[in-house]
Amino acid sequence: MKLLRLAALAATLAGLVAAPAVADTIKVGVIGPLSGPFGIFGKNFKAGIDAYQAKAGKTVKGHTVEFVYRDLEAIDPAKAKALAQELIVKERVQYLAGAYFTPDALAIATVIDQGKTPFVVMNAATSSITQKSPLVSRSSFTMWQITVPAAKAAIEEGAKRMVVAVSDYGPGLDAEAAFRKTFEAEGGTVTDSIRMPVRTTDFGPIMQRVKDTKADAVFAFLPSGPPTLAFVKAFIDNGLKAAGIKLITTGDLTMEPDLPALGEAGLGIISTYGYATSHDSPENKAFLADLAKVGLPEKEVVMTAVAAYDGARLLYRMIEATDGKQDPAKAMDAIKGYAWESPRGPVSIDPKTRHIRQNIYKRVVEKRDGAYINREIKAYPDQPDFGLMQ
Ligand code: PHB
Repeated sequence: MKLLRLAALAATLAGLVAAPAVADTIKVGVIGPLSGPFGIFGKNFKAGIDAYQAKAGKTVKGHTVEFVYRDLEAIDPAKAKALAQELIVKERVQYLAGAYFTPDALAIATVIDQGKTPFVVMNAATSSITQKSPLVSRSSFTMWQITVPAAKAAIEEGAKRMVVAVSDYGPGLDAEAAFRKTFEAEGGTVTDSIRMPVRTTDFGPIMQRVKDTKADAVFAFLPSGPPTLAFVKAFIDNGLKAAGIKLITTGDLTMEPDLPALGEAGLGIISTYGYATSHDSPENKAFLADLAKVGLPEKEVVMTAVAAYDGARLLYRMIEATDGKQDPAKAMDAIKGYAWESPRGPVSIDPKTRHIRQNIYKRVVEKRDGAYINREIKAYPDQPDFGLMQ
């Protein structure tokens, strides 16, 4: 009797082993601005992810990968935290991704350790975010990474006395520190440092202050979106450009969809960034074609599409290494040191900082075939996150 039961049990177990694997779904929660004034950046997150899935397929080792989106229109850390918790607890996501603004990324990072949820930052650019948890990585860029080259570009362009103007929060303060340190080390002088409230849209008084300091150039950073367009327009409309003052910025201020609104007056602005839609490579041409196929025309493409596309690649690699199981240590190990060819050029994940290393390009706004572009004129190769090295 006993033997029979054992035999039956053995048969059942053998059946279980032989049974085809039940298809499972690995969920990834994506938090970002899908609507509102910054909606274009969330739309780019989604298009970048869709383009990656269209290329790589929707399954990894038999596990279906499903992206679940939550809209976070503006800076709102309390809501970011609540959304992250809801995604982990109710939606049972194994991974989190997205985060346009730094305060939101920092809030999300406070809840991921409980759920053991690796988090791929796809925009927020303050260096310290990855220090909040060993489970944070970043596929976008950091302010230090793009601003050290901006200060070098300023010197190359002959600037000697510069005003620094930044938004008064995490990434702005990183940009200010990175610019000042590099520019002064190369022999430049910062004549004034202006911190602008994040919600300011009236830049007239700031432009007057710049004129008063008799600087020969301005370095500026604001979060990409309506504030950046307003700032650059104010620079032009208040006659600073006409007075021969140069504007040198991070690429956040010269995103391609805004260039038509600046028109001829925007020509000649120098910026530094990891990605331009005009980047000349077969990978970028294929990427732009794939984005168009998932509904994002080239004229709407911004940096967050490429950060999400590369971020999706990191998520797939983690899912593959863990065979779909929740093993955050193994998942993180799988991306450390990983190198690949991105639409922006060669990139890798720095094993120490978990930040993406990439070429940063000096670009100039130009008109080509009737369209305004950021033309890459020089590469600063394989830039790390200088911020964590200070
Ligand atoms: C940020 O909040 O970290 C941030 C937002 C927009 C940018 C860059 C950085 O363009």
